[in-house]
Amino acid sequence: MPLRVAVIGMRGIGNTHANVYHEHAGTSLVAVCDMVRERADESAQRLGVKAYYSVPSLLENEELDTVSVATGGFENGGAHFEPTMQALEAGLHVLCEKPLSNDVARAREMVNKAKEKNVCLGTNLNHRFTPLAMQAKEWVANGKLGDLLFINMALWIENPNETSPFFHLRALHPHSIDVMMYFCGEVEKVHAFAGRAPGRQNWSNASINLKFKSGVVGHLSGSYDAGRLNERCEVAGTNGQFVLDGVFEKLTFYPRRNGEVEEYFNPPPGAEGHMDSFADTFPTRIGAWIRQLVDGVPSDEIDASGAAGLAAQEIIEAAIKSFQTDTVVTL
Ligand SMILES: NC(=O)c1ccc[n+]([C@@H]2O[C@H](COP(=O)([O-])OP(=O)(O)OC[C@H]3O[C@@H](n4cnc5c(N)ncnc54)[C@H](O)[C@@H]3O)[C@@H](O)[C@H]2O)c1
Repeated sequence: MPLRVAVIGMRGIGNTHANVYHEHAGTSLVAVCDMVRERADESAQRLGVKAYYSVPSLLENEELDTVSVATGGFENGGAHFEPTMQALEAGLHVLCEKPLSNDVARAREMVNKAKEKNVCLGTNLNHRFTPLAMQAKEWVANGKLGDLLFINMALWIENPNETSPFFHLRALHPHSIDVMMYFCGEVEKVHAFAGRAPGRQNWSNASINLKFKSGVVGHLSGSYDAGRLNERCEVAGTNGQFVLDGVFEKLTFYPRRNGEVEEYFNPPPGAEGHMDSFADTFPTRIGAWIRQLVDGVPSDEIDASGAAGLAAQEIIEAAIKSFQTDTVVTL
């Protein structure tokens, strides 16, 4: 039996989730929900499912296994708390867009509620769900790099919006911090500087140093003033380094002493694992979520879980504190 799914919040990203569920053999999209009636109606009509205009009415009237929450809000996460808590309370598994919340205390409550109800909470940290990122992770796990030493991460995009002083950090960097933790584990200490491009109100550029519990040291440069999506991650170990260029475009391994440089590319169109664009990270991430629910993976073993989303946010809040107080913050 396919999982019965609904999507809450039907603008660009909610429709992207809904399209994935609609096409996936493991799921049956049964409803969509948006407080703006026309948005719910338009998606419902396009996908041939039922429209709801409030989460309580959706939950009362449909037998669901899971929902996606893509309600955005202030700092792009301010509206995630209420629908997520309502769905968790109803005993549903929830895949929530990032950031879980713009308010870290609320994100903690969400993670705790999922634990209390013994259901899965996932975060849509889709940047790491690409074949090349997974290959790099495999190298880290099987010791190809040796003992890890340092990581350099860059995530830059163009985002001219202004909502609050720390919008850039809270809205964008759950992704980059999550990728860094995916490869290097938990973080112990954080130090950050931030700058503003001329005319900007929010701290639209940031330079963040991380010390991981393993002893690995790392750096993130982030920007909302880049004109394009630029993502790059390099990880170095005692036996060699890898560079992951773009979210899915190219992975290179550089042996430290002996051996050949290895280069891997996004497979050509039509070949297995090919990604056309960043948009293809949604089916890979949501596909993994569906597979884990179908397989009954325990809630604390879900990839890119609510706890992972929360961990990234704790680091972002530590970076903000570090910048504001000009100190190193221990988590
Ligand atoms: N993972 C990624 O790569 C990625 C990329 C872009 C955006 N996002 C995230 O996706 C989320 C959604 O982005 P968007 O641009 O589609 O958002 P949006 O703000 O344009 O749309 C949100 C929709 O949710 C509806 N909504 C809000 N609260 C609701 C509630 N309680 N009940 C019913 N409907 C409600 C709004 O009416 C609106 O139609 C954001 O959290 C954003 O940060 C993720």
